[in-house]
Amino acid sequence: MRINRLGASGLAVSEIGLGCNNLGRPKTATESQAGADAVVHAALDAGITLFDVADIYGAEPGLSERMLGRALGKRRDEAVLATKFGMDMQGANGPDFGARGSRRYIMQAVEASLSRLGTDHIDLYQFHTPDPLTPIEETLAALSDLVEQGKVRYIGHSNRAGWQIAQAEYAARALGRERFVSAQNHYNLIDRRAELEVIPAGEALGLGVLPYFPLAHGLLTGKYGQGTAPEGSRLSHNRPHLLEETDFEALAALERFARERDITMVQLAFSWLLAQGPVGSVIAGATRPEQVRANAEAAVWSPTADELAEIDALFPAPEKVALF
Ligand SMILES: NC(=O)c1ccc[n+]([C@@H]2O[C@H](COP(=O)([O-])OP(=O)(O)OC[C@H]3O[C@@H](n4cnc5c(N)ncnc54)[C@H](OP(=O)(O)O)[C@@H]3O)[C@@H](O)[C@H]2O)c1
Repeated sequence: MRINRLGASGLAVSEIGLGCNNLGRPKTATESQAGADAVVHAALDAGITLFDVADIYGAEPGLSERMLGRALGKRRDEAVLATKFGMDMQGANGPDFGARGSRRYIMQAVEASLSRLGTDHIDLYQFHTPDPLTPIEETLAALSDLVEQGKVRYIGHSNRAGWQIAQAEYAARALGRERFVSAQNHYNLIDRRAELEVIPAGEALGLGVLPYFPLAHGLLTGKYGQGTAPEGSRLSHNRPHLLEETDFEALAALERFARERDITMVQLAFSWLLAQGPVGSVIAGATRPEQVRANAEAAVWSPTADELAEIDALFPAPEKVALF
């Protein structure tokens, strides 16, 4: 397992991470604690260090964090533990008035996450989604206090537009306080909108990008066909409309491309992401240990410029609009 620095920070993370939003997800093997333990231990044994969760994940708010904390147990210090705050916890953190980037809310949210995770510090605390009500300066000051108190080691953000990423960076510089070191955004070979703003912002500002949905819910594993989903797979019970919207002809061509190079679709999807400049780690969700093991070994291919261009022809980059 290669270890990368996350952006311009000193935080070292495995280039493949484990996305933990499946822990406690109904109708999956990781719905139970035993299933979660199996996946988390398979990840640690395969050299994965980065575990990404959020306070809202699970069938009820807080469930995935609680299950991850239990699964890590005595092996907590082998992990770089990343969690998130700022989405609607349905009252589990008390009334928040929608201001989930406020000092008042953050101080409540961090204690709740620490307690559920069973740890005294979070390695990467991520602001899950922008809060239109709270000035980013207030959020940064509260997060910087948590770093000073030792409750949080590094801070990151998620789902921010390009201008919001730049705004946060320059606010941190003006305040002379902690800066966000990572950006977690939707990004995979099928959905490349992050290339318009997020990837260039990450490159320019020294942020490690953590793409989410790296396998497009599993579409990039090769296990789905037009309108067909294997029994128990995610799209058989969750977001089935994606099966209708996907270009299966392009997907079949991508599978041929992978076969010609003797690599799997998962290896193609993860290696392609890791070839994109500021991507620091691919956080892959998994519901079974064998998936984790396959994912941990997926960064095996270094695409050439010609190969990247061949992929662009199948799943094009979004068009950039000329401003002048
Ligand atoms: N910041 C945000 O707003 C945000 C939003 C969403 C997710 N995330 C993070 O990103 C992580 C990754 O997202 P994701 O897990 O939803 O998306 P994903 O990686 O696109 O899809 C993962 C799904 O693909 C299937 N899969 C995984 N490895 C496989 C393999 N080797 N072979 C066959 N199938 C495989 C599994 O589904 P089945 O086995 O059930 O078919 C798994 O649940 C999450 O865990 C979470 O930490 C963040």
